[in-house]
Amino acid sequence: MAEVSEAEAANRLMRLAREIARHDKLYHDRDAPEISDAEYDALVRENRELEAQFPQLVRADSPSKRLGAAPTSTLAKVAHARPMLSLDNAFSAEEVEEFVARVKRFLALPPDAFVAFTAEPKIDGLSCSLRYEDGALVLAATRGDGAVGEDVTANVRTIWDIPQHLYPGEGRGPVQEKNRPESAAWSPAFAGVLEVRGEVYMSKTDFEALNERQEASGGKIFANPRNAAAGSLRQKDPGITAARPLRFLAHGWGEVSEPLGDTQLDAMKRIESFGIPVSDLLVRCDTSEEMLAHYRAIEKARADLPFDIAGVVYKVDRLDYQERLGQVARAPRWGLAHKFPAEKAETTLEAIDIQVGRTGKLTPVGRLKPVGVGGVIVANVTLHNRDEIARLGLRIGDRVRIQRAGDVIPQVVENLTRGEPRRAYEFPTRCPECGSEAVAEEGEVDVRCTGGLICPAQRFERLRHFVSRGALDIEGLGEKSIAEFIELGWLNSPADIFRLREHRDELLEREGWKDKSVDNLLAAIEAKRQADGPRFLFGLGIRHVGIVTAKDLLKCFGTIEELRRAALSEGGEEELSSVQGVGPVVAEAVHDFFHEPHNREVVDDLLSEVSPHPFVSDAKQTTWSGKTIVFTGSLETMSRDEAKAQAERLGARAAGSVSANTDLVVAGPGAGSKLKKAEELGVRVIGEDEWAKIVAEA
Ligand code: IVH
Repeated sequence: MAEVSEAEAANRLMRLAREIARHDKLYHDRDAPEISDAEYDALVRENRELEAQFPQLVRADSPSKRLGAAPTSTLAKVAHARPMLSLDNAFSAEEVEEFVARVKRFLALPPDAFVAFTAEPKIDGLSCSLRYEDGALVLAATRGDGAVGEDVTANVRTIWDIPQHLYPGEGRGPVQEKNRPESAAWSPAFAGVLEVRGEVYMSKTDFEALNERQEASGGKIFANPRNAAAGSLRQKDPGITAARPLRFLAHGWGEVSEPLGDTQLDAMKRIESFGIPVSDLLVRCDTSEEMLAHYRAIEKARADLPFDIAGVVYKVDRLDYQERLGQVARAPRWGLAHKFPAEKAETTLEAIDIQVGRTGKLTPVGRLKPVGVGGVIVANVTLHNRDEIARLGLRIGDRVRIQRAGDVIPQVVENLTRGEPRRAYEFPTRCPECGSEAVAEEGEVDVRCTGGLICPAQRFERLRHFVSRGALDIEGLGEKSIAEFIELGWLNSPADIFRLREHRDELLEREGWKDKSVDNLLAAIEAKRQADGPRFLFGLGIRHVGIVTAKDLLKCFGTIEELRRAALSEGGEEELSSVQGVGPVVAEAVHDFFHEPHNREVVDDLLSEVSPHPFVSDAKQTTWSGKTIVFTGSLETMSRDEAKAQAERLGARAAGSVSANTDLVVAGPGAGSKLKKAEELGVRVIGEDEWAKIVAEA
């Protein structure tokens, strides 16, 4: 890893925490990931490596402190009776051999000892725990973070593969409910508690048909069968799950009142005998050669299997061995997932389109001459960002090698015609959606649209933020109403919120709106015409300007107009970055925001409707009010922070750098370039003693 300073690491860790949390939410709550698993893993890895390098920077909300993502949707949460574990991965035969050897070493067996393993497909779905009590299904839960999942019982009851009751029998496949004896005197196949664990999945053909239906009805399109299965299962309304073709395959168990057998294979056969589906590719292998042979057989059959698989799972067959082996962190020592390698193909890059995300990020998407990769036709690839295009030297017309691994979004791994003389691709400097300038911040790879408030791609998100609790806090204007008003063409920019009253009569005619709800909404909006300054500024959604920074900025500039003047003035960025609590990153973002003419128009429009309160400082009025003071060198009787706080109490502003706007420099021993600059500019310079006197007298 490149050398990074502590400050850079702190900054990067803060961003990583935010970014990882956002992707967790997209993946777990919305089933709509924006990045591949591999990219996600890279973020987590970077976070871990930086934290290892700077242990003092580990944040309370660090992603490393969370066990996967705890469910946050509105489904009820349930604690698992026994944790739902994950599996370690292997990608080569050597790693499998090493796993077998490791198991034997742990069990203190000689290398040539006989240890049997089961081998079965690793299904690409989502794991689910089914709890039966005295043969009746009483609870079904998703994995969640492994300790706490979500209650999906009502939804699972609609899945035909999953029996509601366990009957004795030899049969494979589900025992239908209609065959259930009517009498209460039925005897369950398994008394007490039995938690069956397995994978809820959607078949490839059902997935394609579902997406076609979704497209026709304007519904959400799913990226792959696994997301479709997750999105279908994790529904508040079981009616939706019932309409989705979900399937189930068991691969293990959780809490059980009594052992299911002596071996993994016997236990799984037992579960199958209760009418719960188990993969027919589950076998027992006596040697690692047999395990690898089964892996190759499954890999060969992969394209013809009705569902997506990601590899083969091996498990130690003897359950007493499993018990002894136990687990490390969140994965058992007795299990391993042997993943399939990525599948590759070659094709032509026909175009590069730019998509603008909800946060303004410009993502290049490669349009390919469609090509089959591992049984799937691929026509689009994400090119990630500007740097990735440059790294691969991609131009339209290039031959490219692409790869697809599991459900990961296909990627370009190589440009096969790099040497051909053709013009380089030019990444846009304007947003294709709104024409605003698109820029990358220093040290950032992502190019973002700066027209946040007017960009249609960002409109919903921006409006939602503007009215959110931390910003203007307009009660009654929730996501649903915002979406409705955008759809009606009533809301394009934040100022339109204050013109919604012009649509009062039309709104009253709409379903779900009554006199009272409309009046309440309009009153809540009117109440915010005298908005709180910092909340208003925060609501504008300028990158890096949170509520604390908004306060810091207004503490210094008083009003939005003054802030804008400063941002647009010559040397404005420097002036901004000298505000206490504001660094160069914020300064650049504020500067870029106000330099975009579209944003100025939106702010003007807003200010014609809203009059934010000027910031009122709780500092006393002194001769120092409004003055700018810089502390430099080492202070002996107080800390730098204390000195700054004293300045603020006098109504002055403590800045980080000396400029023509500086009124006073307090210099301690060791003061260097700032002192020199102050002398050059003729700024008054005093020592710590004199400063203490000023404070005492004020
Ligand atoms: S065994 C303690 N067997 O893969 C071991 N898991 O990467 C827990 N999965 O969370 C699982 N097919 O959702 C097992 N045949 C299989 C599987 C399988 C898919 C999933 C499961 C688990 C994840 C671990």
